Formats: sequence, structure tokens, C-alpha cells
Amino acid sequence: MAKMLLLLWLLVDLLVFIITVAQDAQPVGVCYGRVGDDLPSQQDVVNLYKINNITRMRIYDPDRATLQALKGTNIELIIGVPNDSLQSLNQQSAANTWVRNNIQNYSDVRFRYVAVGNEVDPNNANSQYVSYVLPAMRNLHNAITAAGLGNQIKVSTATYAGLLGVSYPPSNGAFNDNAREFIEPIIKFLAENNSPMLVNIYPYFVDANGNLLYALFLSPGTIVSDNGRNYSNLFDAILDAHYAAQASVGGENVEIVVSESGWPSAGGDAWTFQTAETYYTNLIAHVTGITGTPAKPGRSIETYLYSMFDEGMKPGAESERHFGIFYPDRRPKYQLSFNLIKSRNGKISERYGLLSAFSVQGF
Ligand SMILES: *[C@@H]1O[C@H](CO)[C@@H](O)[C@H](O)[C@H]1NC(C)=O
Ligand SMILES: *[C@@H]1O[C@H](CO)[C@@H](O)[C@H](O)[C@H]1NC(C)=O
Ligand SMILES: *[C@@H]1O[C@H](CO)[C@@H](O)[C@H](O)[C@H]1NC(C)=O
Ligand SMILES: *[C@@H]1O[C@H](CO)[C@@H](O)[C@H](O)[C@H]1NC(C)=O
Repeated sequence: MAKMLLLLWLLVDLLVFIITVAQDAQPVGVCYGRVGDDLPSQQDVVNLYKINNITRMRIYDPDRATLQALKGTNIELIIGVPNDSLQSLNQQSAANTWVRNNIQNYSDVRFRYVAVGNEVDPNNANSQYVSYVLPAMRNLHNAITAAGLGNQIKVSTATYAGLLGVSYPPSNGAFNDNAREFIEPIIKFLAENNSPMLVNIYPYFVDANGNLLYALFLSPGTIVSDNGRNYSNLFDAILDAHYAAQASVGGENVEIVVSESGWPSAGGDAWTFQTAETYYTNLIAHVTGITGTPAKPGRSIETYLYSMFDEGMKPGAESERHFGIFYPDRRPKYQLSFNLIKSRNGKISERYGLLSAFSVQGF
């Protein structure tokens, strides 16, 4: 009898453990940008994801060779709609065709989200796309729903901190005035359809001249104290500023997925290889752990690292071409692990770098 009870107890314990892990499991994804002329074939890239146990991917256009290579894998996908396809998708028939060719035609690819436009912003060079985003989202959503996939594949757009007029302190986060007109109806659409917002979050760009330890998850204590919420890393502060901005326009229940985050290994003045490795290592530990952010505690944060490879043909600052976590010849740049390490209570052991192990001169 005692043995039976013990066995039962062990079984229940095991079940609880499995359920806990399943609920918490939020593996880190990696963005697969292809702006380079020396990158491996799409099939080789998908193999590289598999070998490294990377189970989520973001792509920026419906590239056929990539979709073909993903067939039958367990890799979950964010598929992008390029900015310059948005206008044509303002016609329902074009959106139906897009969904048929790029989603329905790949029934054994695990689509997760459709990212309709990237960093479209009334105040940047992409302002010409502003009026096309929401109609394209609606039409794609209609087409996906009509295909019977509405519960599996959510339609969203990828935005960034450029839309925030106020981000400090985080609880005051707000969109700037002309961005609000653009984003508010989008957020209402996401709320109605139980879709997340996708946000690209880069402490590197926000804080290039500021507190490096705060940006690298290495601060030993609170840096920003905000109405009883204590921030010791900039990533959480930016994320919570976005949550506050969303809440102010009716999106308090819209979850945020971090659709890009990364740090270049070269190309800036002081930014070293080791700084970047520290950022990625600590970011992975933070988002896969169940700390959450001060405003949204107790859960892991779905996050996609930018980017799989150094992309040698990206325009702009030199650093833009050094965001890869792999070199184009497929060698890993850093020692990162994509295996979720869970202890029995479902908590991730946080592998934060030690301050003493982090010796960069000049900060
Ligand atoms: C991927 O996961 C498998 C199975 O858990 C494991 O054996 C392998 O070592 C992992 N690969 C890497 C690169 O961590
Ligand atoms: C869309 O616009 C953003 C913002 O400038 C730009 O970074 C991105 O490269 C564009 N993406 C595509 C796929 O056109
Ligand atoms: C559908 O996918 C197959 C490969 O699986 C490809 O040969 C075909 O051209 C695709 N059709 C469209 C319309 O994309
Ligand atoms: C934030 O820090 C203050 C001062 O150290 C402390 O009293 C408070 O309990 C902390 N709040 C949280 C939510 O940890």
C-alpha cells in the first residue's frame, strides 16, 4: 500500500513537472535575414537550426526555398510580409492568393505569426506604407480565417521603439502623437483577434552612450525605480514602456512578442565581441527564465534573436553587418545554448555572467 502511494505520488509529481515545463517552455527563436551574398543555402540554414536545437525562426519574406526546407520540421515560423507588398494586399483577392501560395501551399510548415510590415513608422523613411498596414492585416486575417487556420496563425505587425514618444519611466510609456493615430487601430485589431504585438527591442540602440551594465543585464541592483517596480536591466524597461503605451490605447491585454533583439560584435567604437556575447547569453537566460518583467512578472518572454548570420550587404552603419550569431560559413560566433534547461520546479537556472568575469576596459 505504501509502495502504491509512493508510486502514485511520483507519477503525480512527474505529471506536474511535465505540465509546468510545458507551460513555461518558451524557446528562443532566431531571425533569419538573408541580406548577404555569402550565406549558406536555405536547406543548409534549416539544418543548422535543427543541429543547434533552434525551434523558432523569423523570416522577412515568403521565400520559397526556405519554406520548402522547413516542411516537416518542428520549427515554428514568423513569416514576414515585406513593406513593399503591403499596398497590393489591400485587395482581399490578393491577400487570398498570398495566403494560398505562401501558407496553405505549405501545410506541413508550422506557421505561428504573419508579420505584416516591419518598423513602419509615420516618422521614418517607410511612412508611405502607413495607410496600407491595417487593411493588409485585416485581409490576411480574413483569408487565414476562411482557410480554417484562424486559431493557429495570428496576424500582427512588427514595430519598434521609434513609435514611442515617452519611454521613461516605463510606466509613463506612450506613443508619440502622430504614431498613435497609426498604431491605435492596429492595437485594437490585435486585441479583438487575440493576436500579440511584435516589437523589435534593442538596448544597443537605445543606450549606446549610457550605462553598459544596465544594458547587458549585469547591473547588481536597481537602476530605475518606477512606482515600486525596480528595473535592473534596460530590456525590461523598454518592454514595459511598450506595454504601458499599448495600455493607454486599449491594448492592456495584448501580449508582446520580442520579434528582434541583438547586439553587434563589431563596427562600433567600444563594442567588443565580448560585449555582444554577454548580451546574447544574458538575454537568453532572462527571457527563457520565468522572471518576466517588473510589469508582467512570472512568465518567460517569447523572443527572437537578431540575427542568424552576419549580413554583409545590409546598408547603414558598419555595425549593421555584425549582428550574426553565426558566421556565413556556419561557424558559431558565440557559445550560446538553445536547449531549455529546466530544474524540477520549472525554473530556468539563470546563467548571468559574473561582473568579475566581464572585463571590458573603459566602462
Ligand atoms: C540538441 O538536443 C539533443 C536532444 O536533446 C541533444 O542530444 C543535443 O546535444 C542538442 N544539441 C546541441 C547543439 O545542444
Ligand atoms: C521595412 O521598413 C523598415 C523600416 O525602415 C526597414 O528597416 C525594413 O528593411 C523594411 N523591410 C522590408 C522587408 O522592406
Ligand atoms: C506550392 O509548393 C510547391 C512545392 O511544394 C511548388 O512546387 C509550387 O510551385 C507552389 N505553388 C505556389 C503557387 O506557390
Ligand atoms: C523595490 O525596491 C524597493 C527599495 O529597495 C523595495 O522596498 C521594494 O520592495 C522593491 N519592489 C519590488 C517589487 O521588488
